Amino acid sequence: MDQFIINGGARLRGVVPISGSKNAALPIMAATLLTEGETILRGVPLLDDVESLSVLLRKLGANARRDDDGAIRLRVEDEQNCVAEYELVRKMRASICVMGPLLARRHKAQISMPGGCAIGDRPIDLHLAGMENLGADVDLIGGDIHLRAKRLKGAEMFLGGPFGSTVLGTANVMMAACLAEGTTIIESAACEPEVADVANYLNACGARISGHGTPRITIEGVKSLKGCEYTIIPDRIEAGTFMMAAAITNGELTLTNCRMDHLLAVIDRLKAVGVNIERKDGGAVVSSARRLEPITVATQPFPGFPTDLQAQLMALLSLADGNSIITEKVFPDRFLHVAELNRLGARLRKEGQTVVIEGVRRLIGAPVMASDLRASAALVLAGLIAKGQTRISRVYHIDRGYEAIEKKLAAVGADIQRMAE
Ligand code: UD1
Repeated sequence: MDQFIINGGARLRGVVPISGSKNAALPIMAATLLTEGETILRGVPLLDDVESLSVLLRKLGANARRDDDGAIRLRVEDEQNCVAEYELVRKMRASICVMGPLLARRHKAQISMPGGCAIGDRPIDLHLAGMENLGADVDLIGGDIHLRAKRLKGAEMFLGGPFGSTVLGTANVMMAACLAEGTTIIESAACEPEVADVANYLNACGARISGHGTPRITIEGVKSLKGCEYTIIPDRIEAGTFMMAAAITNGELTLTNCRMDHLLAVIDRLKAVGVNIERKDGGAVVSSARRLEPITVATQPFPGFPTDLQAQLMALLSLADGNSIITEKVFPDRFLHVAELNRLGARLRKEGQTVVIEGVRRLIGAPVMASDLRASAALVLAGLIAKGQTRISRVYHIDRGYEAIEKKLAAVGADIQRMAE
């Protein structure tokens, strides 16, 4: 296992190219199971999660390979296997998004029921309700979900749950509905740009989806879909993380391939903290005032402040001049980073799904442990400014979702190294 060794204090300066979005790439790769012919995907980040999904897609009969120019080529060659096994689903929850495509195209799917993970229980009841609405029979046998449907039928449905819309649930049902007979309407659909990207890919393959990016998506079923060439949107979570890296080190970073329109809630909150963010040629220039103002934030589904940037924002606010409050409204248990940040000298107090952050003047390096993807990113941010050395173990979590983060940070002046533990 690898660890990161960070010597804090360097002010970051320079240009950071933002990679393609992990959370758009994964369901789009799964969506190729619906198509005939070849799909060429550009902008798919080089990540462990992408590799895990490629392994699953190969088991499901697809040829998936990366060209020298970085594009991923996918083509379904054998449609016999309909099983996503526990080993693969356990490793990566997003494997669940092969469910819709398998059911629609192969008329059955057997997917291991994902367990909980570091950020909470993460049920999939809404995915299953959506498939039942489209006419599938759903059974849970031996920890596997068995779904069957001779022909899916379009339906009008409400897909909201106790925490609002579901991102992968919406993508799953939308993918399945593409090959269903008739029209499907998903009400309370997730509005995340990644879901809209899946819809744009499917439309480029011949699907008839409208309303994506809004809470009401309409899908008119078609008979077949044909693979195409498509470029994935930039990763807004990676961009937001680097914005906070510029802010926490009091540096100046230019982010290229960054969609500001996908980051309006983040930009709003960072500006309130005192971070300067200017648009520049399809990207952004981010710099920070020395003094960070305390703020109040609640995470919410898009277009609200993303839960995937909550931990990183907490690292930044731990150095603000006063008390801040963060409330987590999407995954109420997503706070494993609190104790680790406190080890670095932050003063964080968790009260239910809220954390009170008492700003401190400095953080001090220490050995800490990465617990999940975004929590690890928060520890990296804290390490960049902590006095002395911070050693972050278990960085395989970060490799799941950030492409070469230590190389991108080192290129703009950070003192960060990857070493075997
Ligand atoms: C996706 C993202 C993840 C992000 C999350 C919320 C991917 C690969 N992952 O995860 O990075 O943090 O969106 O923006 O895209 N819920 C239910 N029943 C369900 C499904 C979800 O109650 O059937 C609840 C969840 O427990 C959670 C909330 O709904 O409280 C949102 O979850 P959801 O949007 O489904 O997250 P994912 O799609 O799994």
